[in-house]
Amino acid sequence: MGDEVRIVEVGPRDGLQNEKTPITVEARIAFIEALIAAGFPTIEIGSFVSPKAIPQMANSDHVLQAVDHHADREFHVLVPNERGYDAAVTAGAQVIAVFASASEGFSRANINCTIAESIERFKPVLTRAKADGIKVRGYVSCVLGCPYDGEVKPAAVASVAKQLWDQGCYEVSLGDTIGVGTPARARQLLRAVAGEVPMANLGMHFHDTYGQALANIYAGLEEGARVIDSAAGGLGGCPYAPGATGNVATEDVVYMLEGMGIKTGIDMTKLLAATNTVSELIGRPPVSRVASALNAKAKAARTA
Ligand code: HMG
Ligand code: MG
Repeated sequence: MGDEVRIVEVGPRDGLQNEKTPITVEARIAFIEALIAAGFPTIEIGSFVSPKAIPQMANSDHVLQAVDHHADREFHVLVPNERGYDAAVTAGAQVIAVFASASEGFSRANINCTIAESIERFKPVLTRAKADGIKVRGYVSCVLGCPYDGEVKPAAVASVAKQLWDQGCYEVSLGDTIGVGTPARARQLLRAVAGEVPMANLGMHFHDTYGQALANIYAGLEEGARVIDSAAGGLGGCPYAPGATGNVATEDVVYMLEGMGIKTGIDMTKLLAATNTVSELIGRPPVSRVASALNAKAKAARTA
């Protein structure tokens, strides 16, 4: 499968945005610093959205400004509209992510507009970003199912992905927001979308609600996809997708990739330390199987 895989660590955004126990800006910064120390080149660190909608991501400007001096790393922030763009750029953002949905029900619930309206909303953002030399990543949510509309057809995903790509997104990340996908469907989806956006520019953003994310990623790797979004400890979920749990856990992805001979550059011990610290703050153990196994092993060694 080659060895060119890029992990986008989304724990500080997608993970923490849905955790009920609030954690301080200082703790968010410390979490990101720990992830930087573990070796992540790309980290999604916050959102410039309404703090009434997502209070966990308030003050993302302070977070970005605190970590921005790591010039060798790429920090991503979510931007829903021009207002968010202004705030992100003022805070120093160099990479932003816009987010659309493949289903109307989720688009309405998440960003209060239709899919077509969201694409219109992103146009001035993308135009300005191009002029300002800012990279834009595009997300498509509900690519394998929607909590409101049910089934989502690959052609619907391909259509939204194409519009984001045509507008200038450098990469389109495909979100299985509610984690309902299975490997054959993930494979079929990637093939369909790769007809519109090059496979090399597609991200796999799979939530693990039904425990299928790692299998789906493996199927995607076999198809040639090489970008994986994951969250340390399997943190989080989506506030507008009731019952959805977190992203695939980064520890599990790293363990699988390294086991396949694909070098990730991630220091597992440091990643585990970052996960354990944030897990203590939010008051629940990591859902990552690898993190649980390594923690149990370390505990057994201490008591031996
Ligand atoms: P709206 O109600 O359509 O827009 O919200 P509005 O212009 O009427 O604004 C509503 C309020 O938000 C107003 O404040 C605005 O000032 C404020 P109020 O008058 O009520 O006090 N506002 C803003 N505040 C800060 N920053 C801004 C901004 N824009 C408006 N940029 C809006 C539209 C998108 C803003 C709102 O619905 C929102 O913020 N939604 C949150 C969306 C979100 O962050 N969702 C979670 C992330 S997406 C996700 O998790 C999926 C993903 O992981 C992929 C996957 O898994 O599928 C990416
Ligand atoms: Mg997500």
